[in-house]
Amino acid sequence: MEIIITPDYEAMSRTSAEIIAREVKRKHDLVLGLATGDTPIGTYKKLARMYKEEGLDFSKVTTFNLDEYLGLAPLHENSYNYFMWENFFKHVNVSAHRLFVPQGNTDDPEEFSEWYEKKIQEAGGIDLQVLGIGRDGHIGFNEPGSSFASRTRVKALYEQTIKDNARFFEREEDVPRFAITMGVGTIMDARKILLIASGKGKADVCREFIEGPVTSQITATALQLHNYAIVVLDEEAAGGLERRQYYNWVRDNKHVVEKRIGR
Ligand code: PGA
Repeated sequence: MEIIITPDYEAMSRTSAEIIAREVKRKHDLVLGLATGDTPIGTYKKLARMYKEEGLDFSKVTTFNLDEYLGLAPLHENSYNYFMWENFFKHVNVSAHRLFVPQGNTDDPEEFSEWYEKKIQEAGGIDLQVLGIGRDGHIGFNEPGSSFASRTRVKALYEQTIKDNARFFEREEDVPRFAITMGVGTIMDARKILLIASGKGKADVCREFIEGPVTSQITATALQLHNYAIVVLDEEAAGGLERRQYYNWVRDNKHVVEKRIGR
């Protein structure tokens, strides 16, 4: 894993947007996996600015979102589909028929999940998957104990996740108890992974998933087994890392490192 520590949320957003933009420029028909939550909002804003001011072109990009609350219709204002339109899709030149978000109000979640996996395959697989991380270590809604081999399916939300996400709803009871989420295995199939995290509240889990043992109890630790995972953190989220000096040395000497390891 490449660990990039940035000073604050603004810098984290800029760095992650630059990484995504680099991939979009490299491959115009990129297959991009997307995440929701507070963390990527700044990144999406930067990408929208790059589209408006620099002509960054999303017209051929296909996107697949990680997850959606089970039971919420796509136009429900707490749905992740709605979130994506409000925070990203409507601000750039994406093509609506190339945007995929799991359908929360499907009649048959099992069949839908199989279809979603097939769509990802048909698109040629995910080139770059963007991830946030929950305080329980989840990626997507892969809550503690999710198999590293799991594929898109319905998952019951962990208590902490329900509490953390209650801020978006009127009452905690309104938070759906289930979601459709890509599995850890689906995420791990992406060619490149970019995980972003910000704030003190993520410091413990960032230390655990970057420097702790691999365990399905913290599903983000699966990224330790991926051969191209970049983690962009702000100072607060990086606050618990023991080897931060080493990560910073690698970051500041990137030209030397890249020459040596041939990336
Ligand atoms: P957040 O959510 O970006 O709102 O902190 C991250 C997540 O739960 O994956």
